[in-house]
Amino acid sequence: MRIRRLPDSLVNKIAAGEVVERPASAVKELVENALDAAARTVTVDLRDGGAALIRVSDDGHGMTAEELPLALERHATSKLARDEDLDAIATLGFRGEALAAICAVSRFTVTSRARGAPEGLRLGGEGGVVAQRLGVPAEVGTSVEVHDLFFNTPARLKFLKAPATELAATLRTVGQLALAHPAAQFRVTNGGRAALTAPAAADLRQRIGALWGWDTTERLLAVDRVEHGVRVAGWASPPDVTRGGRDDIVVIVNGRPVRDPALLQAVLAAYRPLLPRDRFPQVVLAVTLAPNDVDVNVHPTKAWVRFRHPRVVQEMLVAALHEALRRPAVIPTFGGEPREAVPGVEAGAGASPAEQAALFKEPAASYAATRFGRVLGQVQETFIVATTDDEVFFLDQHVVHERVIFEQVRAQVDAAPLASQALLFPETLELGPASRALLERWRGPLERLGFAFEEFGGAAVVLRAVPTLLKGDEPKRLVEAVVEELADPKAGEPTLDRALAFVACRAAIKANTPLAPEEMERLVADLETTETPYFCPHGRPIVSRVSMHDIRRELKRTW
Ligand SMILES: Nc1ncnc2c1ncn2[C@@H]1O[C@H](COP(=O)(O)OP(=O)(O)OP(=O)(O)O)[C@@H](O)[C@H]1O
Ligand SMILES: [Mg+2]
Repeated sequence: MRIRRLPDSLVNKIAAGEVVERPASAVKELVENALDAAARTVTVDLRDGGAALIRVSDDGHGMTAEELPLALERHATSKLARDEDLDAIATLGFRGEALAAICAVSRFTVTSRARGAPEGLRLGGEGGVVAQRLGVPAEVGTSVEVHDLFFNTPARLKFLKAPATELAATLRTVGQLALAHPAAQFRVTNGGRAALTAPAAADLRQRIGALWGWDTTERLLAVDRVEHGVRVAGWASPPDVTRGGRDDIVVIVNGRPVRDPALLQAVLAAYRPLLPRDRFPQVVLAVTLAPNDVDVNVHPTKAWVRFRHPRVVQEMLVAALHEALRRPAVIPTFGGEPREAVPGVEAGAGASPAEQAALFKEPAASYAATRFGRVLGQVQETFIVATTDDEVFFLDQHVVHERVIFEQVRAQVDAAPLASQALLFPETLELGPASRALLERWRGPLERLGFAFEEFGGAAVVLRAVPTLLKGDEPKRLVEAVVEELADPKAGEPTLDRALAFVACRAAIKANTPLAPEEMERLVADLETTETPYFCPHGRPIVSRVSMHDIRRELKRTW
């Protein structure tokens, strides 16, 4: 065995194998170069989806006659100067490899004119060897033409798919870059026919409108959250606007669309309780963080990145999406008059079983159809099962009721403190100093909800009244539960919502409680009137669903 140094041409081909996998990857590199050159317009012309021809032209700052030959060499870049630059990369490219790699496996022509230069320079050749050098008239900017990609690497050539498939991959790539850079104009043609057109956009939403259509875009929910030096901003579909695949989940990190399984999982996790297994949301999220908190130099195609604090970014994504998904705008407007909130639901909630039964004994109303369809019954005396033609829902009865009470009470408490039930015999409670301090801190919100306390100074606290909603609870246990709940470090500053969530949870029907059909229907209909029917006030999901499509597929039904 003899060890040989490989000739440059072979080294380049091998290197190209990593960077240029298919036409879409060449287009990605060329478009990224255009964006790094501050182009305002990027035009991509293809033939046969890029297999026969790729031409990427831009109006960026161009290259001088001295720079251009260097640009085609390996390890030649204008984007890194010193070692430290690698720790905080602000451009899309930085490896100084892409052009060399593309030219190594194609017949190429690169034309560029720098701003201020009298004319342009054109270099042409094949297999990485420059055979032609020509001064040409040209606009300021750069145009790279790639003919017969992989003409000299037959193994790679064999793996090219049908032109339509390659075109689809290329359009996905350009689409994602266009979402990451709304201010630039993008045009893609294939065989002379327009395949993608995105005019310069004022903001991301406008760009999404151009790419996904306005019907979809108008339904999207704004996402924007800043924390721990990370910003997550963008747009996300409500649960009823979905796709059969994941193509429309786009995560952009510092201007770079990335493929990061953990971030994709984070997006799916945020939607999990809302979507059936075979449906996916449409989401564009731009994550912005300090360049030195993310390492983009981990993969030859730069599609993967590594975060210094991956968990923080994942959690931010979930939190930002949850925030957006819990806003009222999530709810699609169903036809018909909005239903009146039914008064009196809270009256007996959490009360004795007898009272609870009375709660539902109202004249049987015919409830409007809800998004959850028809109630079928109860499972394990805990879950309400409902179905539409398309889906079967399992609703957690406790959490449903909690959400209903929370919103009804929330609407009332803004106007006046809630109904309060004075205790016949005020209860004297011996509490430790920590618990007393906690009650003192939360006194304001608790009193708005109907609690009345006295004598915080001494060793004991006297409980004079409780919210009417909770009058069925044993007072001493109730206060213990308040203290326990509010002692949770997550409780943070006293807030009315937090205290309200506690009351709603206490007052709600418990699991393992049998319900009559009318009671279930009533609960589901009331849930329909809430602003956030998918999560309880603590953020627990309310609904799990299974699509009939899934079931049919699993049972191999053909209709
Ligand atoms: N469209 C363009 N406009 C202006 N300059 C360009 C353009 N394309 C390439 N260049 C110049 O050529 C150099 C080499 O480009 P190339 O894509 O090979 O490497 P890179 O962008 O620096 O890094 P990477 O390999 O990560 O893409 C760039 O650093 C840039 O200076
Ligand atoms: Mg580049």
